Amino acid sequence: MSAKVSIIGAGMTGATTAHWLSEREIADIVLVDVIEGLPQGKALDLQEAMPVIGKDVKITGSNAYEVTEKSDIVVITAGLPRKPGMSREDLLAANADIVRNATEETVKRSPNAIFIVLTNPLDTMAYLTMKVGKLPPERVIGQAGILDSTRMRAFVSMELGVSVENIQCYVLGGHGDEMVPLTRHSNVAGVPLTKILPAERLTAIVDRTRKGGGEIVNLLKTGSAFYAPSAAIVQMVEAILKNKHLIVPASAFMRGEYGLKDIFFGAPVQLGRKGIEKVIEYELNDEEKAALQKSAKGVAESIALLKL
Ligand SMILES: NC(=O)c1ccc[n+]([C@@H]2O[C@H](COP(=O)([O-])OP(=O)(O)OC[C@H]3O[C@@H](n4cnc5c(N)ncnc54)[C@H](O)[C@@H]3O)[C@@H](O)[C@H]2O)c1
Repeated sequence: MSAKVSIIGAGMTGATTAHWLSEREIADIVLVDVIEGLPQGKALDLQEAMPVIGKDVKITGSNAYEVTEKSDIVVITAGLPRKPGMSREDLLAANADIVRNATEETVKRSPNAIFIVLTNPLDTMAYLTMKVGKLPPERVIGQAGILDSTRMRAFVSMELGVSVENIQCYVLGGHGDEMVPLTRHSNVAGVPLTKILPAERLTAIVDRTRKGGGEIVNLLKTGSAFYAPSAAIVQMVEAILKNKHLIVPASAFMRGEYGLKDIFFGAPVQLGRKGIEKVIEYELNDEEKAALQKSAKGVAESIALLKL
């Protein structure tokens, strides 16, 4: 029996997630959106691509939630994207209603599913999903860290002309401009970035990583990034369905890790068939700890706006 992944929101990130995921041939895919014809059209178009790429994947699109029944994973991408000049926090009120509805509609049809949340403000929407769905923390994961880290890896690769495969970067914290790229732990084939890059180049890369989302928004003007975010979701889906015990940075519910409680926050997590198996704690220096606290304060303030 095939695994089933339902993607709520068939916009840029939702549809691109379906695209990357179909190529993996690891699950049947459902797309749900409020716009009439959109999920059906994108699902059919993608279904018609399967013979060309030789993948036997069933892709269904619908405006109704019945098709999501018995999903193994629910991915929530429904919401409004950030427009130029708009902060992630500006999106909070509008997206909270959308994510609440998507969670309620999916959780009753797939009570055992693992939820991956993408909608911004990310850490806050992941928290909302867990609360509204009354889900155990290990079954709700926010996608942020893989994206932030892959951006940093891409920038380091461009700077040094080294294969992306040799570059590991670690970014902690909330999904916002206060994120904490860990330059001491990030490395090129084992050599820390702090040893390989001149300080001013490293500072420039860290700064570009922090503002990576905004850079794309300013270029696109009518939407936000979608290729890299959806590739990140698919890495998480694959790790879960294949029970890989893969450690990736993601937003998880904090229960004392890094001295934080009752917020979703970016940290390395180990992903397997049950969702989050472990939150990994790095030893941080005082500067990193201070940056983390600043980032956590921003997330806590955003969560407080939910008035749950
Ligand atoms: N966490 C991340 O790393 C990350 C990265 C990229 C985008 N995002 C966020 O993801 C969200 C989606 O981005 P996008 O680029 O795909 O936007 P998009 O506008 O292309 O797609 C969003 C889709 O959601 C649909 N939608 C709206 N209300 C809905 C509802 N109640 N039920 C079902 N579908 C509904 C819309 O019709 C639209 O098709 C935004 O909030 C964006 O900020 C997060």
